[in-house]
Amino acid sequence: MRGITVTGWRAALNAGARRLPTGVIYGAGLLPVPTLLINAQSGALGPEPIKALEHALGTYALQFLIAGLLITPLRRWAGVSLLKFRRALGLLAFAYVCLHLLVWLVLDIGSLGRIGADIVKRPYITVGMLGFVLLVPLAVTSNRWALRRLGGLWHKLHRLAYAVIALAGLHYLMIQKVYDVQALIYAGLVVFVLALRLPQLVRAGKPG
Ligand code: HEM
Repeated sequence: MRGITVTGWRAALNAGARRLPTGVIYGAGLLPVPTLLINAQSGALGPEPIKALEHALGTYALQFLIAGLLITPLRRWAGVSLLKFRRALGLLAFAYVCLHLLVWLVLDIGSLGRIGADIVKRPYITVGMLGFVLLVPLAVTSNRWALRRLGGLWHKLHRLAYAVIALAGLHYLMIQKVYDVQALIYAGLVVFVLALRLPQLVRAGKPG
């Protein structure tokens, strides 16, 4: 009885996912952007709107990174196929990281001279920047044309996603002043997605 219920639930989820256009994920995923901007304008983001904006954009980036990396384990271990949304989730993560970086560059540090100094002097910025730099080739090659052109190399390149999530998790933890429940949940999720893929990564790293 229980097996039938789980199978039915999974089949319904897979059927729903097949019918759902990817555009809906992009649309829903980008919805927080205008909301955040309106709230920043109206003063609803509190006494430090720039910090709040920076934090919110970074948090969305982290959430989309984690969601994108949960797609393969979900298919492998739960039989839920959301593969068609993986690219959208990755690109949404990239878009939020870009906006996060933009807020930092334009609104937070406010002086060109401080960019290099901050990257060098503040370890959490160095780590975040490294995460961003590694994310760029993944975003650029996230299309079918690049997949066809790069062949096997594409899969190797996209393993960088694990380095990105590790750096993003580290960046996040370095910023925390207190390790509250939310921080522990994000840290746990990052460790979880990395641990799920560890056996595969070790196998892929072995020669022959
Ligand atoms: C993979 C890329 C990145 C991810 C996923 C990410 C994620 C985050 C998250 C989730 C926060 C909020 C932490 C909280 O709410 O407590 C945050 C804060 C922040 N991030 Fe990032 N970030 C990334 C890259 C960067 C880059 C490239 C920079 C700048 C060069 C940067 C600068 C900052 C700053 C300045 C803060 C606020 C720190 C503070 O509270 O003073 N991040 N980031």
